[in-house]
Amino acid sequence: MLHWPSGVVAYSLLALVAVSNTSSLDPCAAIANKTWIAPQDVRACFTSLPVQSEIKSNIIEVINKTLAFHTSVNYQKQAPPPFADDVHEDVLGDLARISSQEYASDFDLHIDISRAVKRLNDGHCVYYSLCYDSLFTSFLPTPLVLLTDIDGSQHVHITPEAFNVSSAEFGDEIDVWQNALPDKLKGKLSSLSGAEVLLIDGEDPWVAAHANSLITGSYQGYGTRLNSFFSSYRRADDGWVYMMGNFAQQSLPLVDSVNLTIRRQDSDESENITLPYRSRVSPGAKPWTDSVSFRGNNCVATEYTNGIDLYAEPSLFALPPGPQQPFALPRRPRRHLVNELLDATPQQDVELPPELTPSSPLNGSAGVAQFYMLNDTETGVLVLGSFAESAFNVLQESLLVGLLELRERGANRLIVDVTNNGGGYICIAHWLHRIIAGPKDTTIPQAGLQTVTRAGPLAQLIVEEIVKGADPDGLSLYNPLSWEFANNTPFPATLNWLRPPVEKVINGQADAFSQILGDECQPFEMDPPAEALFDPKKVAIINNGRCASSCSLFSITMAKGEGSKTVFVGGKAGVQQQYCGIVGGQSTRFSQVDTEIKSARLKNHTLAPPDFKTNSVQGITWRLGMGLDDPSEPEEWQNHPADVNLPLTIDIVNNPLAIWELVAKSVL
Ligand SMILES: *[C@@H]1O[C@H](CO)[C@@H](O)[C@H](O)[C@H]1NC(C)=O
Ligand SMILES: *[C@@H]1O[C@H](CO)[C@@H](O)[C@H](O)[C@H]1NC(C)=O
Ligand SMILES: *[C@@H]1O[C@H](CO)[C@@H](O)[C@H](O)[C@H]1NC(C)=O
Ligand SMILES: *[C@@H]1O[C@H](CO)[C@@H](O)[C@H](O)[C@H]1NC(C)=O
Ligand SMILES: *[C@@H]1O[C@H](CO)[C@@H](O)[C@H](O)[C@H]1NC(C)=O
Ligand SMILES: *[C@@H]1O[C@H](CO)[C@@H](O)[C@H](O)[C@H]1NC(C)=O
Ligand SMILES: *[C@@H]1O[C@H](CO)[C@@H](O)[C@H](O)[C@H]1NC(C)=O
Ligand SMILES: *[C@@H]1O[C@H](CO)[C@@H](O)[C@H](O)[C@H]1NC(C)=O
Repeated sequence: MLHWPSGVVAYSLLALVAVSNTSSLDPCAAIANKTWIAPQDVRACFTSLPVQSEIKSNIIEVINKTLAFHTSVNYQKQAPPPFADDVHEDVLGDLARISSQEYASDFDLHIDISRAVKRLNDGHCVYYSLCYDSLFTSFLPTPLVLLTDIDGSQHVHITPEAFNVSSAEFGDEIDVWQNALPDKLKGKLSSLSGAEVLLIDGEDPWVAAHANSLITGSYQGYGTRLNSFFSSYRRADDGWVYMMGNFAQQSLPLVDSVNLTIRRQDSDESENITLPYRSRVSPGAKPWTDSVSFRGNNCVATEYTNGIDLYAEPSLFALPPGPQQPFALPRRPRRHLVNELLDATPQQDVELPPELTPSSPLNGSAGVAQFYMLNDTETGVLVLGSFAESAFNVLQESLLVGLLELRERGANRLIVDVTNNGGGYICIAHWLHRIIAGPKDTTIPQAGLQTVTRAGPLAQLIVEEIVKGADPDGLSLYNPLSWEFANNTPFPATLNWLRPPVEKVINGQADAFSQILGDECQPFEMDPPAEALFDPKKVAIINNGRCASSCSLFSITMAKGEGSKTVFVGGKAGVQQQYCGIVGGQSTRFSQVDTEIKSARLKNHTLAPPDFKTNSVQGITWRLGMGLDDPSEPEEWQNHPADVNLPLTIDIVNNPLAIWELVAKSVL
């Protein structure tokens, strides 16, 4: 197991008092109604819940049977180069091991299951328990970043804006950290901003960054997973977000404190400090009073966990909308399909400080899409933080209006900043490619990737039921009317398009897929312009590697198909940086798969996963995009090396405008 080293030192006095004051022996009662607590107190509650064998088998059975719908199980047993060292997880084998293993607590079981799935390093294929993951988020006030000096040497630093960010976000809790500092520094947390970090827990900071890369999951590229340790920024629907990075923000309460050896700015002296992690309860947690109500309120399946039979009594549709859940399944017809990363660390809405926030966005800016013109009068900037958070039609229109506005203002080259863009609507990725690059054989009739889905026995039966009439309203993902042949002509309503399946042997395992599916987005719901809006060769796509799913679909078609430049910002020297990761094709969740099965009246089939009894979320890749360069293999494990690796220096770090100006000067 690759746990972080967990120190057992330096709990704040506050936490010790809180524990000793509690008359109850129930560790979940001890943390009830509290906003901030020490991670070990959260852990005491979590580890007090015993394994219930029936629940354990239920979780494993659902995951196991749902993985039959995930396209990549056999590919991920051993990825080809350049990802051979990154992806080599036998997830079914691990589930079998976990089945027969004993665990001290349900939480220990959860860590083993979720880490096994995370070792796929695929943000589409994940398993989360909302009972544990991000129910409490553990923070430090000192996010880190990797900076490059003028001489090219690289050092880890506490970010220059660390104190500004933390004091704005954490309010009075900042005092706990102020008081945890050694005498000379007590109350002077602000003086740590910008400090060089020489050692973390007595070792080179790369030891901790590397250890994190092994458990953070989400991306196949090693450089990208290393980067997740560090802070960065992202444009969200309602503003600019500061990403703390995995060092300063963790979704499970596993680490109590960290020892840092630092050299503060303008100092020659190295100093040792110990900072406690502090865990903050999620606003989505349902209040509890003891371990029974903790489990009852937060750990059992909700109305969003499992699927529904779309053709059951109409009363089922009349359920009142529940509170917004971080992973709630949107109950809408399947029209705007998504390809997006599922993250264990949902946004905490830590704000990018005003000094770093770009001002005066141009007309067309809306939600996740913001437009700026640089002072060089020829470079336009599109910041796109997601392909989904804004409504489909709003985003589609905003992209066109904003790019036309940039043209109007004289832009003849374009920076597209997709830093931390985890994907979203597939057809928005196709649309953006098409409107930038114009009508040509790389955008018409297909501006994205051809795809395949997995054709297991139960999937074939679902299509058989649909062909026999089980989906009269065309609501199912498997309905032939939703898809086209590879040559972009529609499937007839009566075609069982999964039969016969296309048989393949992958890593020595027999597997079966659908025939190749053609375009799914055209004609678009809006008219695209008749000409290219920009010369794609004068487009630079920039990010920190964390560009996933639909963001990958867009970036790959622009880079490989149109010759656009890709720029990786930051990253460790000597590590090959990928400009995107987890391509996928279309992602979905257990609840959708379950809806497909229930609506086809196949829930009683032996291959059908049962309902989750727990408050769990499982994500899968439902369709896999095939390669542009090598169409016989998935794009997923083909190489996506960034053209340019832009070092982060102290004057541009986490400052989008400064980064764009440098890219405009040095790359375009
Ligand atoms: C942190 O330093 C203290 C001594 O100051 C030591 O006892 C402890 O083991 C260290 N913790 C880690 C995780 O290195
Ligand atoms: C997963 O499902 C398959 C097929 O139903 C079964 O053979 C296998 O034993 C299951 N694995 C586990 C760990 O339950
Ligand atoms: C921190 O905030 C102060 C006061 O608003 C500001 O002057 C300073 O530039 C900020 N520092 C950084 C690095 O953002
Ligand atoms: C600071 O910590 C490092 C690493 O744990 C240790 O080697 C060093 O002796 C410490 N320095 C002081 C002044 O305590
Ligand atoms: C939490 O607060 C509620 C009402 O605010 C109260 O009824 C309950 O007893 C409190 N629980 C604990 C464990 O303090
Ligand atoms: C932006 O849009 C508003 C309202 O549509 C319009 O009045 C204004 O002139 C536009 N500004 C620019 C710079 O085009
Ligand atoms: C352009 O220059 C002005 C004045 O130097 C500055 O305030 C502004 O932030 C710059 N804007 C952009 C987009 O570079
Ligand atoms: C599944 O089986 C149960 C009992 O065996 C039966 O009551 C139920 O109607 C069946 N459901 C479906 C969808 O076939």
